[in-house]
Amino acid sequence: MRSSTVAAVLSVAGLVVAHSNPRDFHPPHMAELFGSWRPAGEDDSRSPCPLLNTLANEGILPHDGKNISIATLNQTLQDAIGLGTDLAGFLVAPLSAIVPEGGTLNLGDLLLHNFIEHDASLVHDDVAEGEKFASPKTNWTKVAEVALLSSDGMSLSTRDFAQARIIAEKRSRALDAQHQSVADGEPAFVLKVFGNPIEGDATASKISLVDFMFLFGLNRLPIGFTKKDTPVNLPTLQAGLARLMAEKAALSQQAST
Ligand code: HEM
Ligand SMILES: *[C@@H]1O[C@H](CO)[C@@H](O)[C@H](O)[C@H]1NC(C)=O
Ligand SMILES: *[C@@H]1O[C@H](CO)[C@@H](O)[C@H](O)[C@H]1NC(C)=O
Ligand SMILES: *[C@@H]1O[C@H](CO)[C@@H](O)[C@H](O)[C@H]1NC(C)=O
Repeated sequence: MRSSTVAAVLSVAGLVVAHSNPRDFHPPHMAELFGSWRPAGEDDSRSPCPLLNTLANEGILPHDGKNISIATLNQTLQDAIGLGTDLAGFLVAPLSAIVPEGGTLNLGDLLLHNFIEHDASLVHDDVAEGEKFASPKTNWTKVAEVALLSSDGMSLSTRDFAQARIIAEKRSRALDAQHQSVADGEPAFVLKVFGNPIEGDATASKISLVDFMFLFGLNRLPIGFTKKDTPVNLPTLQAGLARLMAEKAALSQQAST
């Protein structure tokens, strides 16, 4: 299925769910379906990061993905998705290695292999041996494979993402320690920003499958997305990351006994 078709189907599904009384449901207009979201065109610059691509597709970052200052990115992460100043600062700080003082970033700059980009990603392919840049292309087979790891058939939990990371890492070249923690941090971020806590559990979260498909597949904000009331800060992220790693350890142990 072409991704535009998937987009339309998922959008309709989302709107149907949003109208709890079926009699209140009216077929949506195109503007209602797509809002300000537009997929990347030929000349648009895109990264291997589903979140940054989402912000560009939504027009929250420049739609062409180009000429983005560190200050803009820092502020956007706080304003648009509710990161704390500490966490936004932590994320943008390493970019000074590829963005000259006062210069700007194109999202495509982030395709540089083994800068942040790494092997064993959930939804895009490893670079070929010797390649300097990865592809920003989403691998829809991988998106579907991750979605199928849902334990409850409706959402992906911290544990489900832990399983997805284990599978991805088995298939790829080994990650160095630094990229390993980046790779584990990525789903932890998504769960804190877009997920919800699992009831009765202090550190585990889950994200609905529809929202996962929107973000990782279409690079689009979930329908009705609002940032959390309290900024997602460094300690919050660390707690989510620690839980993800604990789940990975438990799953690996189970598999080996
Ligand atoms: C300045 C901020 C950020 C930068 C520079 C950045 C950059 C990147 C890069 C280069 C990758 C590719 C890693 C790979 O090879 O898989 C990546 C992956 C990812 N990013 Fe970001 N990112 C940022 C913020 C965020 C935030 C705030 C979230 C979530 C709320 C996020 C979610 C993800 C996820 C889930 C992946 C993994 C995708 C996969 O495994 O296929 N990122 N990011
Ligand atoms: C880049 O953005 C700055 C403002 O942030 C603007 O003044 C400048 O004209 C832009 N350059 C290009 C090439 O678009
Ligand atoms: C990001 O923004 C925060 C304030 O919003 C600031 O304290 C921090 O220094 C900024 N970080 C960078 C690297 O620009
Ligand atoms: C996409 O991922 C699948 C499953 O991991 C893999 O078999 C396939 O080769 C990938 N597709 C491309 C175009 O690389």
